[in-house]
Amino acid sequence: MRDTSRRGFLRMGGAGLIGLASSGTRAATEPSPKNLPPTAADPAQAAEDKTFWSAVAQLYDVPDGIVHLEHGNWGAMAHPVLASYQSRQAEINRDTAYYSRRLFGIEADAIRRRVARELGVEAEEIAFTRNATEALEALIGGYHRLGPGDAVLYSDLDYDSMQKAMRWLAKRRGVRIAKLDLPEPASTDAIVSAYARCLEEDPAIRLILLTHVSHRTGLVLPVAKIVAMARAADVDVIVDSAHAWGQIDFRLPDLAADFVGLNLHKWIGAPLGVGLMYVKRSRLDAIEPYMGEADNGRITSRVRTGTINHAALLGVGPALDMHECIGPARKAARLKYLRNRWVSAVAQELRLQVLTPDEPGLYAGITSFRLHDRRTRDANVSLAATLLDEFGIFTVARTGLASGACVRVTPAVYTREADVDHLATALLKLSQRS
Ligand SMILES: Cc1ncc(COP(=O)(O)O)c(C=O)c1O
Repeated sequence: MRDTSRRGFLRMGGAGLIGLASSGTRAATEPSPKNLPPTAADPAQAAEDKTFWSAVAQLYDVPDGIVHLEHGNWGAMAHPVLASYQSRQAEINRDTAYYSRRLFGIEADAIRRRVARELGVEAEEIAFTRNATEALEALIGGYHRLGPGDAVLYSDLDYDSMQKAMRWLAKRRGVRIAKLDLPEPASTDAIVSAYARCLEEDPAIRLILLTHVSHRTGLVLPVAKIVAMARAADVDVIVDSAHAWGQIDFRLPDLAADFVGLNLHKWIGAPLGVGLMYVKRSRLDAIEPYMGEADNGRITSRVRTGTINHAALLGVGPALDMHECIGPARKAARLKYLRNRWVSAVAQELRLQVLTPDEPGLYAGITSFRLHDRRTRDANVSLAATLLDEFGIFTVARTGLASGACVRVTPAVYTREADVDHLATALLKLSQRS
């Protein structure tokens, strides 16, 4: 068992040594996702299967000497993904243009088809980008059904770069900016009513930005319900799904959204540097060609990335193999199980406020909290620092919520029960202090 005590943590040299302290314990026979032990068909039951999840954890280099609960930044590649990435990188570096001019297009196209199939859409409806930011900024900037007199709406939980892009539309398109502070505590009814009120009170709204899974609190929005309501009012919606695919089990048609930006380097476990833009085929005209590109009627004319990291894109295949072997529904259930485990352990502690609601459809793995109702950035940065310095638990402070700052906790598929139990114990101890 990993030593997560303060002493153990300090012996490892503190946060600075996290990379060096990687356990790197690969079995003599490299575990393979194909050799995962059988588990229950019911994802909720499988979520508690210790044998299964410890076999999953064997497929990753899990950092030792630290309880890493900040997997929201981006996700580690499993061993088979990393091995493939490294060998493809070496091969591409050797062959350079001989590979990229002859073969890369063919391989990239096969990956695009597979990704589209997994997401339940047509290959012609997706274009790869380097990350979700690139996809979403191209969608927000390219959406051209706007003009003076119109308004666009975003919320306090949206990602800062996307909020900035929405505000930039004032200059770019002459629109007015409307901002919604999402209700807290959130419920499906409260969220849907809040959007309904915005649309009713401000009929000039023509475009809404929605963040599918909030990076601030982990709140999962009832996207399909809001999209349906918006559509009835002839309002378009751009969905930021940067944190969704792989953390929750869904397919794009479930959202009924026409414009979505995603990445594959958070919860799909692809190499860093792979994102994608989705535009429903019949809605391509709503996005103008990217910076003077000729309008060839293809989504690839709506975003331009230039030369991309070939090996990173090729890593999507092994990452999806991994994702499928673990099972998208099992992954989602495991992350929720880990989240529920620490949240329920601290539920009776009134000095600790969990911001992400318990309504089943509204949360996934990420959950944020505050202690002693402290809402400043400094208080929460300091709380995250205490968790790290005293308990060896790595989390992150988040700001930007209308209600104030908080600390975010994000498990991964290889997080163990002991890790979230350690967090719960630390939080209960800290709640005793004034
Ligand atoms: C909600 C949200 N949107 C967008 C992004 C940007 O994603 P990427 O790093 O792939 O550009 C992030 C990244 O953390 C995010 O949390």
